[in-house]
Amino acid sequence: MSYFSFNLPTRVTFGPGAIESLARQAALYGRRALVVTGKSSLAGSGHRDQILASLQEQGLEIEIMSGVNPEPGLEEVGEGIRRLKECRAQLVIGIGGGSTIDVGKAVAALAGQSRPPEDYFYGREPEQRGCPFLAVPTTSGSGSEVTPNSVLTHEGKKQSVRGPYMWPVAAVVDPELTVSMPPAVTAHSGFDALTHAVEAYTSRGANPLTDLYALEAVKRIMAGLPETFKNGEHRPARESMSLAALLAGVALANARLGAVHGLAHAVGVASGKPHGLVCAVLLPHVMAFNMKTSRDRYASLRAAVAPRGEGGAGAAEKFIEQVIALQQELRLPRRLRDLGVKPEHFEAIVEQSLPSSSLKHNPREAGARELQQLLEQAW
Ligand SMILES: [Fe+2]
Repeated sequence: MSYFSFNLPTRVTFGPGAIESLARQAALYGRRALVVTGKSSLAGSGHRDQILASLQEQGLEIEIMSGVNPEPGLEEVGEGIRRLKECRAQLVIGIGGGSTIDVGKAVAALAGQSRPPEDYFYGREPEQRGCPFLAVPTTSGSGSEVTPNSVLTHEGKKQSVRGPYMWPVAAVVDPELTVSMPPAVTAHSGFDALTHAVEAYTSRGANPLTDLYALEAVKRIMAGLPETFKNGEHRPARESMSLAALLAGVALANARLGAVHGLAHAVGVASGKPHGLVCAVLLPHVMAFNMKTSRDRYASLRAAVAPRGEGGAGAAEKFIEQVIALQQELRLPRRLRDLGVKPEHFEAIVEQSLPSSSLKHNPREAGARELQQLLEQAW
């Protein structure tokens, strides 16, 4: 067995009612908290006010930074750091979808560095511990509550700030907070989680521990995502999807990803479409591209999700067909042209994607020519 390491330094509290433990956990880290929330996090659900009230009842002074954008920029992180310093917050709590959690995470980590945020956006890892960060996801997709990554946009580029000082200290995952997600957000975030699991499972960085997480995530998503799309109030399916997103997050944090995520950031910039939707369109095309190196792995995924443990001839192809069928069931588009991407974007997409570390973990080598062909295929 080859050498590997595995990290999960984040304390996970999971399940219906988990949110009740947030205030108690937050109080372990200080008295003043910056709370970062998104534009539509928990909109109309009443949960937001309850959570904020519970933090205050615990004696925490809170400063709220609301309205984080769906594809957030580095400026929002700068604004968060300014607010954090102004109110002398000792900890940061991020409540929302992947983007909101990514901003909260970056604010907490980068507030503690001596250099400006731009330096870390362009590849430098944070050198020291920042503020403790607690993540409360309200979608089931990014898995950002258990990863040391933060995806941000700056100067027309979208990339990850990453490093050992980026892990949240706590993830409070309460599936009840995901019930108010609209069907489209459910579909997009669910496909993001599926892509994390499939790419982590076939990644060059996969190991026996990440395989366990990725396989279990794929099983849960293939069963649970159609249910939550049809009926957002389906609590058991919501719970299973929250767990799946978390499992896939642990897998990606340790195994890394592949060409879907290698391309998704640049395609996201070119199309302006949500990350999960971009992943949904690219996934079957990238899987077909990776068939040369990963047939056995796709066959194992098929065996894990097929009705009677089927894993024989054609199993890998059947798994790709199953992913396409799921796309159709969720009424998602199949081609890049449906996202508004144009062939004249390809050159810039390829150029921006080549340095991506996700691409380096793709099982099949992909240089400029292969990426160009992949984009044409997906278009
Ligand atoms: Fe993703």
